[in-house]
Amino acid sequence: MTNAFDIVIFGGAGDLALRKILPAWYRTFREGQLTEQSRVIVICRDKKSAAAYLQNSEAALKEYLADEFIPDAWNQFKAYLFPVALDIAKGDDWQNLKEVLVPGDPKVRVFYLAIPPAIFSICCRNLADNNLITSQSRVVVEKPIGYGALSANKINEEIAEYFSEENVYRIDHYLGKETVQNLMALRFTNLIFEHLWDSKSIDHVQISISETVGLEGRAEFYNEVGALRDMVQNHLLQLLCLVAMESPHKISARSIQAEKIKVLEALRPMTIADVQQNTVRGQYVAGSYAGELVPGYLEELNSPNSQTETFVAIRTYIDNWRWARVPFYLRTGKRMKSRCAEIIVQFKDVSHYVYKDSAGKLQPNRLVIRLQPDEMIQLTMMSKNLETTDMQLQPATLNLNFSETYTEFRSDAYKRLMLDVVKGDSSLFIHRDEGEYAWGWIDPIIAAWQESKTSPHLYRAGSWGPDESDELLKNDGRYWYNSGAQESE
Ligand code: BG6
Repeated sequence: MTNAFDIVIFGGAGDLALRKILPAWYRTFREGQLTEQSRVIVICRDKKSAAAYLQNSEAALKEYLADEFIPDAWNQFKAYLFPVALDIAKGDDWQNLKEVLVPGDPKVRVFYLAIPPAIFSICCRNLADNNLITSQSRVVVEKPIGYGALSANKINEEIAEYFSEENVYRIDHYLGKETVQNLMALRFTNLIFEHLWDSKSIDHVQISISETVGLEGRAEFYNEVGALRDMVQNHLLQLLCLVAMESPHKISARSIQAEKIKVLEALRPMTIADVQQNTVRGQYVAGSYAGELVPGYLEELNSPNSQTETFVAIRTYIDNWRWARVPFYLRTGKRMKSRCAEIIVQFKDVSHYVYKDSAGKLQPNRLVIRLQPDEMIQLTMMSKNLETTDMQLQPATLNLNFSETYTEFRSDAYKRLMLDVVKGDSSLFIHRDEGEYAWGWIDPIIAAWQESKTSPHLYRAGSWGPDESDELLKNDGRYWYNSGAQESE
């Protein structure tokens, strides 16, 4: 249990706040972790939206929490919610917040900026001008932090005028997923993996996050951003860091972030020619999912000319001793065949195969770490078929299925991360340098795509992406491991 605190959510009536942040606080309350005297202060743009806030948030919680929503619990939880009418750009409105936040209050104070980055600066300036930033204050910022290295740097500079780096919590909700933390636990507590975790034993790594959803009412935002900025710059590169980094010397923000930064620094930068050879961008056209017809991206967007990518596949390398020449294949897309986030570590063949060809084809070991929807770890190994006296070999799978082991397991990344902010633990947050290095690697890809004046490759909604994505691996003699799908070589 934490000490009492105040969290102030700017953009409190917006989509992110209602969909993710508020449900997380409701769950925190239900688990008895919302300390009495704590307050969730919700900033609404004007008096009207502040007055309607409790009603609207009740409706939102009912929708997003489904059977977790209990009317009695809501009635108690809403006593923690304090809507405040405040237009960030209007100087006089800040008085409304000053009336709620007691000057010099020693409680932890968290400012959550669930607002566009363009207004981070004015928001922080007003917080400072109104003496609302105390020594116990922290600020939480959401992606996208910038559209490239330059704009990210500018935003970070603006925030740094008011908050020191240790009080800035940049959220990547993937890091709050229990299964993602399990990835570190798996790597750094099991000797068997550590000894095999390098270019001597590993053939390649795949990191894939496929989604079945389309634009989900975020058309304007998504069309500006695209899959590379929306998913690769943050979630996929964070997963890559966790797979590839050295062991931190302890579990602390400083050591973990330092190791991740080294990986990002070692990511091989791409020239224009590299981008052509190592990246595939796609855009979905109409198709079907679960037997239903699904419109194409341009129809969903209602604009015929967008070149925004809804799919990306990338081959990249980490130029350091451990990972020299090991390809890392990254892939993400909207409206794909199934929803799945997975890391595949494909080991090399044994150096000498002693059995005859008639014993069966050797398949090298493969470690599958599935982060969602069903959390599990699988290790594929060769074994003898025991039902015959002939030497028949076949792949068998060791299965660690967490969703069967932990039946009460209900992960809420936001809940976990916000409690960490309150506790002052930033080990699952992104350091400024991480974000900026990631942008530094992404920027040339965006520039090369723009320069090439080519269009994204089309793929059918409900498929695994454009054919060119399969070819990217096929040319290397490899193939995507599509979870649940028939394997092909
Ligand atoms: C967000 C992206 O960061 O992550 C969304 O902006 C995406 O476009 C979402 O749908 C995916 O998160 P999850 O937890 O559902 O895999």
